[in-house]
Amino acid sequence: MDVLVSAESIRQRVAELGTELTEYYRDQPLTVICLLNGALPFAADLMRAIDLPLWYDSFAVSSYVSTKSTGELKIRSALKLPVKDRHILLVDDILDTGFTLHCIIRDFAQMGALSVKSCVLLNKKVDHKLFAAPDWVGFEIDDEFVVGYGLDHNEKYRNLPYIGNLKQQG
Ligand code: IMP
Ligand code: MG
Repeated sequence: MDVLVSAESIRQRVAELGTELTEYYRDQPLTVICLLNGALPFAADLMRAIDLPLWYDSFAVSSYVSTKSTGELKIRSALKLPVKDRHILLVDDILDTGFTLHCIIRDFAQMGALSVKSCVLLNKKVDHKLFAAPDWVGFEIDDEFVVGYGLDHNEKYRNLPYIGNLKQQG
């Protein structure tokens, strides 16, 4: 497997994002929401790089089976915190078509959030973006299937400390 983003590069970039988010949310009480499972390591590192008091919650969604988006979002667990009247920062592993974030941002706005912003570790360069404007991005990458640091292929490779490019077989 080729290493696309090393563990050290991730560490440095997460620290930078933490500094930017600390600046941005200084006067707005922040609620960080992690999209499980993929964003777990990123959200864990990112929230510790934000030097502010904050609330944290997570919920599970999935739209992928193997390496293809199914075009249907499955919410597999609920939030504990209310969304209403909060400044929400959604943390996801990767923005591909943007379908996932698009649906969640729309729903959270309808639920009465004061603001809904997004921070993704990776932004894939694809033509078919449905939603192309994450507020904070770790790294821009080409349209290839990647794993590691939370990202999976059929639930494997999530524990790799780096982002790797999975060589497709067949
Ligand atoms: P979107 O809804 O098309 O933006 O897809 C976002 C979700 O698909 C992410 O949260 C990932 O779980 C998954 N995904 C998209 N691309 C990849 C990839 O290259 N590797 C692993 N998971 C991916
Ligand atoms: Mg995911």
